[in-house]
Amino acid sequence: MSRIVIVSNRTPGKGPAAGGLAVALRKVLADREGFWFGWSGKLTDQPSTEARIEDIDGLEVAQIDLTRDDHHAYYAGFSNSILWPSFHLRLDLATIESHWYEGYRRVNAQFAKALAPLLKPDDIVWVHDYHLIPLARELRNLGAKNRIGFYLHIPFPTADALYAIPHHEELMRDLSRYDLVGFQARRDVAAFTEFAEHQAPSTFGGHKAKAIDFSGTAVEAFPIGSDPEAFAKLSVSPAATKMIHRMHRALGDQRLVLGVDRLDYSKGLPQRVEAYEKLLANNSRLRRQVHMLQVAPPSRDTIKEYQETSDTLDAICGRVMGQFAEPDWQPLTYVKRAYGQPSLAGLYRLARVCLVTPLRDGMNLVAHEFIGAQDPEDPGVLILSRFAGAAEIFPEALLVNPFDTDETAEALRIALDMPLDERRDRWRALMDAAMAHNVDDWAVEFLDGLAPDAMAETRPSRDMLYLASVA
Ligand code: G6P
Repeated sequence: MSRIVIVSNRTPGKGPAAGGLAVALRKVLADREGFWFGWSGKLTDQPSTEARIEDIDGLEVAQIDLTRDDHHAYYAGFSNSILWPSFHLRLDLATIESHWYEGYRRVNAQFAKALAPLLKPDDIVWVHDYHLIPLARELRNLGAKNRIGFYLHIPFPTADALYAIPHHEELMRDLSRYDLVGFQARRDVAAFTEFAEHQAPSTFGGHKAKAIDFSGTAVEAFPIGSDPEAFAKLSVSPAATKMIHRMHRALGDQRLVLGVDRLDYSKGLPQRVEAYEKLLANNSRLRRQVHMLQVAPPSRDTIKEYQETSDTLDAICGRVMGQFAEPDWQPLTYVKRAYGQPSLAGLYRLARVCLVTPLRDGMNLVAHEFIGAQDPEDPGVLILSRFAGAAEIFPEALLVNPFDTDETAEALRIALDMPLDERRDRWRALMDAAMAHNVDDWAVEFLDGLAPDAMAETRPSRDMLYLASVA
């Protein structure tokens, strides 16, 4: 059986894996031979030309160091100040410094140079996320003939946002060098297809670029999931129970409205707190009856737009406190810190309502984890943004437009007043959907699609789209 090589910017660290994805991919590598390849987390004066191979908790991990300048241009620059905002349709928050592209390409070339000598001819290479779009092309330039797949964990942009990205055409050409490109949601496949079928308009000078040939690239939605049964177990573990007791002592009879997100502008955090503010303003009976807890671990905090989001959130939380707090009651708690999965599982289980209201999101695994952690006899209610990939698989959540804070406030009221029978019915359907989309099946399905004989076998499948050459 072919080895599997997983490539991502971050590699799994020592100790228990934090996210469902890391756990699932570890399982893939426990069942099959292979290794993980990525950045070591170290910044050095000289870039590494060879990878260091380490055994991390039984997993083979090959890592390279990057120089400070390259890392800045590649990670904070092109990946997170251009691709991330554009792919999330926030061109207003993008910083278009096109010279970062050179650092982005240099790092991808460095990844390829260090990875290529480690590859055997029949290895299957699975590349993850927007940091590494050019990797297949760089590997192919070095002679790699392996099956190479790419999975995008974030949404794919609409054509207009794509056109605003410097060198977008090159990046699309890079995608055409993969055998399989996987997206989170059908909407992403549709956006990609829209570009592939029509391609970029000519740029200045009327120059028309040669159309990209996508005929060798399969494109499909593989919605990622979590391990809801593991979360169910975790939610009754001693660590989760400890957190539940701690919260019970603090909250008494108040019902908990919970949010858990990286502190990122795509998550819609200010809008969410504003919706909660409207809930309290419109429903005075609920004051002292509810408490909002927002957990928001800081993220990418060297980037100005992230600092500004953090400041905005501080201001809004302060405003809500000033308006509604009493000497003996606080409407909300805002925690800028990361918690381990067992504590989070306890919080999810205790919450009456979970607010997952990103302005745009690839999938959003908090929604999956919240569902997994519920008490089947007394489940909480999920309020979910219709712009999260998760909305395609969880229609039984209360779906909202997160930009419309009146609508979210009303959804909150409905969730808090929802009778037990309806909560149980909705949760059952959500749990069935979460189990049908578990992360183990996700990994197996992607790898099946990438297997050497998959192209021949799946070509007639109606689910997988092969884009005809438009050259
Ligand atoms: C998103 C991206 C991941 C990324 C994670 C954390 O989920 O899809 O690729 O690793 O955010 O962001 P960071 O910049 O800290 O790696």
